Amino acid sequence: MSQKENIQSHDRYREDIAGRANVADSPELLAYYKELETYRTGALWTIANKIEPWQPKSASVPILWRYRDLRELVLKSADLVTPEKAGRRVVYLNNSEKSGLSAAVGLLYSGLQTMRPGEAASAHAHSSSALRFIMEGHGAYTIVDGQKMLLEANDFVLTPTGTWHEHGVDSDGSQCIWQDGLDMPLVNVLEAGFYKVHPDLRQAVTEPLDSSVGLWGAPALRPQNVGWNKPYSPLFRYQWGATYEALQRYARVSEGSPFDDILMHYTNPLTGGHVMPTLGASMQLLRPGFVGKAHRHTGSFIYQVAKGQGYSVIDGQRFDWQERDIFCVPSWAFHEHVNSSQTEDACLFCFSDLPVIQTLHLYYEEALIDNDGHQRVGG
Ligand SMILES: [Fe+2]
Ligand SMILES: [Fe+2]
Repeated sequence: MSQKENIQSHDRYREDIAGRANVADSPELLAYYKELETYRTGALWTIANKIEPWQPKSASVPILWRYRDLRELVLKSADLVTPEKAGRRVVYLNNSEKSGLSAAVGLLYSGLQTMRPGEAASAHAHSSSALRFIMEGHGAYTIVDGQKMLLEANDFVLTPTGTWHEHGVDSDGSQCIWQDGLDMPLVNVLEAGFYKVHPDLRQAVTEPLDSSVGLWGAPALRPQNVGWNKPYSPLFRYQWGATYEALQRYARVSEGSPFDDILMHYTNPLTGGHVMPTLGASMQLLRPGFVGKAHRHTGSFIYQVAKGQGYSVIDGQRFDWQERDIFCVPSWAFHEHVNSSQTEDACLFCFSDLPVIQTLHLYYEEALIDNDGHQRVGG
């Protein structure tokens, strides 16, 4: 019996034992429940086992979104709606049939946005924190609080909470696609979301091009006499070249993790912490032939394949992936990653709600013990 089956059968046993709600319906009780309902109240024992599970039960399921399925559909949206009419021309990833939260997994939103050369979306600001990961095309830019930055494939970009931001593609660029990631479902669950459009529809560029990279982008060096007191990273663009180089340097001096091989978190250069209060992100390198072991932890995770090909086993299901595919790992689902090439690296970009989980002291992690640390693939 696998560890997972063990846990499940153990739970079935525990659900029957003393200390858990186990009240059989009777005509008197049913009448009582009805009476409680009329006063907008309820008996806790009728829902206790659901709202206090033995262990996390995600409403999301593991999904792989193949880029070869989505790319044409995303490009097609540009024939059908303008950025002006749509606000943002995005195909969102939907894993929320059960929850109705428009989430890609857990409380994370994600979508694929496309813009054509010469197009620009209006400047806006919202309570949600956002990030983007550039998938294809050239000439795309984002302006965040007066700072314009250029976007290239595999760049990771922040548009933190409350910042004025707008996106566009220069007229001599090509049609671009990028992945957006937001904490919107979380903000909506907390009923704390505001959204506003810039009064001039466009914001002025007030800083030199890529100024955040110039000030804060040097590894382990801090600019003199430059202040920053915002609750998110002052660096808004993390370039692919420097990221990949850092991973390769790390790989030369480390055995890596048995679960993730060579993984580095994008950080706020001032604090070393996560880039934003509600969203964290990482890039990991799986060396040729890497076969990861299975573990699980709390938190919801969305991966994009930045480079290479391989597969992941998530909750007992195998998902084969290649460059630009996106997949999710729901909270507490066992997962393991494999680079199927014996000669090429594979790189996985990932963003998550880890900053929230850690800040609230809700992070738990465990390795799969039996079957040499690998899940049995079914489904
Ligand atoms: Fe936005
Ligand atoms: Fe993990």
